Amino acid sequence: MSIDPNRPSSARVYDAFLGGTHNFAVDRSVAARIMEIVPEMAALARANRAFLHRVVRWAVAGGVRQFVDLGSGIPTEGNVHEVALAADPDARVAYVDVDPTAVLYARELLGDEHRAVVVNADLRDPASVLDDPELRAVIDPERPIGILMFAVLHFIPEGPVLDATLRGYREAVAPGSLLAVSHASGGLDPEAVDRVADLYSRAGTPFVPRDEARFAALFDGWELVEPGVVRGSGWHPDGGVEQLSDSASSMVLTGVGRRR
Ligand SMILES: C[S@@+](CC[C@H](N)C(=O)[O-])C[C@H]1O[C@@H](n2cnc3c(N)ncnc32)[C@H](O)[C@@H]1O
Repeated sequence: MSIDPNRPSSARVYDAFLGGTHNFAVDRSVAARIMEIVPEMAALARANRAFLHRVVRWAVAGGVRQFVDLGSGIPTEGNVHEVALAADPDARVAYVDVDPTAVLYARELLGDEHRAVVVNADLRDPASVLDDPELRAVIDPERPIGILMFAVLHFIPEGPVLDATLRGYREAVAPGSLLAVSHASGGLDPEAVDRVADLYSRAGTPFVPRDEARFAALFDGWELVEPGVVRGSGWHPDGGVEQLSDSASSMVLTGVGRRR
């Protein structure tokens, strides 16, 4: 897959939300239209990254030291390996993304860092992802893994592919592994979310916000850890959490499950 500057990509649109520079005019145009509909989109993206950081620190503190970041995106401030290695220099991270822009910049960022790798793959094929030789160079499937799916499952519609994807990771990982998910939800203004979905689908990406019940079902076979499914930025908040309005909070669901 090559980089097409004329076709928006969800990775580059998200980079634009975060004020990054690895995006094209076509991505900035989609991002600007989404931010017209959801003015707090940039704050939501920052809150999502802050949740990611908290989950990684929490997981390392609990003894999970290796992470597979699925749909990892274009590198930005506080990437998973930076957060994990700051908490434990023996941590290991595999980034996985289908988008060549994300992979290119992640490889550039990692340089000769041997404790993290980047795999260009579709997360909907768990067996190929987890058997990838580069991933296997840093990830030991016999030990607990933190499977991270941040702001990515809402691009995968309901159906057998989603079910097989979730089952594939769940069945492959060792007991004690974690599944951490952040996800778009219909929120207080479902009409606004429908308009965002329409923009994404016209850009060639399905966008499927889920309600709490559908979100919780993503954790079938995992035990949701306290405090369960949380809207907004309230999952194990720390002092640095940016306040979101009720409307923005209602648009995001978060949770972490543990494999028994
Ligand atoms: C909105 S970004 C989220 C980036 C990062 N996870 C975060 O939360 O900050 C979604 C990312 O998922 C990637 N993605 C979408 N579908 C994917 C798939 N089927 N397999 C792998 N990556 C995918 C996109 O390329 C993009 O980089």
